[in-house]
Amino acid sequence: MVKSIEYLMESEEEEIRLELKTDPRAVIEQAHWCGVNKGKKVLDAGCGPGIVTSLLAQLTDCLIVGLDYSSKRLSYAKKHYGQKGRIEFILHDLRDELPFREEFDLVWVRFVLEYNKSSLRKIVENLKDVLRPGGSLCLLDLDNNCLAHYPLPDKLKHALHKIMSFLEEKHDFDPYVGRKLYTLMHEAGFEGIKMDMRPHHLIYGDVSHGDMFNWTKKVEMAIQKAPFIIEDNYPAGPEGFFSDFQEFFNDPRRFTYTPLIMCKGIKPLES
Ligand SMILES: C[S@@+](CC[C@H](N)C(=O)[O-])C[C@H]1O[C@@H](n2cnc3c(N)ncnc32)[C@H](O)[C@@H]1O
Repeated sequence: MVKSIEYLMESEEEEIRLELKTDPRAVIEQAHWCGVNKGKKVLDAGCGPGIVTSLLAQLTDCLIVGLDYSSKRLSYAKKHYGQKGRIEFILHDLRDELPFREEFDLVWVRFVLEYNKSSLRKIVENLKDVLRPGGSLCLLDLDNNCLAHYPLPDKLKHALHKIMSFLEEKHDFDPYVGRKLYTLMHEAGFEGIKMDMRPHHLIYGDVSHGDMFNWTKKVEMAIQKAPFIIEDNYPAGPEGFFSDFQEFFNDPRRFTYTPLIMCKGIKPLES
């Protein structure tokens, strides 16, 4: 049963945006750190268009299940990655109890909790239930999401912070979820928790086509979701905000970074 869905980044082109921004080498490195390897049955929770699921499938010889609450993303995933065997895709909302019990060796959750600010604990509990005792939960998410740019003009910075506060309040978005992962895992009773942090965005000098597309989509989404916030906080209005942000982002003096926080923990053998 899928609840009403309001995925913040929903658009006609979301599957393409997610494909374009996926760096296969980075995913494989992250998966190695998380312990995805042969003999492990893996759940990719919030799998999006399936490209990451297919990369994880290269590292294990067991079944891998990709799960997402978007039927649009799942039909894309099935079409592009579902024919390869050992990969199944299922439609489900992580906020609801999952249709599995203690059967996965590893659950991987990348860039998903940030869209579920009010349900972080519930999702972690649901995922704990599908892990076998001794299995690992791996949470990978961003901190200070969209907020670390220099030299961002003050008026853009001010409007950006207002927009992010609005998205937190009204769209369940959590730009600071990265810093919460350890505590979430600890409070959920996981053991042997390990943390790591890597740069996700590290953008300086000339911007690549992929980064420009990704950030243009983010700004378009912000304008679409928060036009009144921009009108109230940016003298040039949404159009001016869009063109000023693009100009800033195209300036080779600009530096932008976002830390990726990785957290893995083990479900106790006895609870
Ligand atoms: C930014 S994408 C990340 C996709 C992929 N995990 C990756 O690393 O590229 C977030 C995905 O999580 C899905 N998602 C967000 N909240 C969800 C929920 N409560 N239940 C199931 N899927 C969810 C969205 O539909 C979207 O496909």
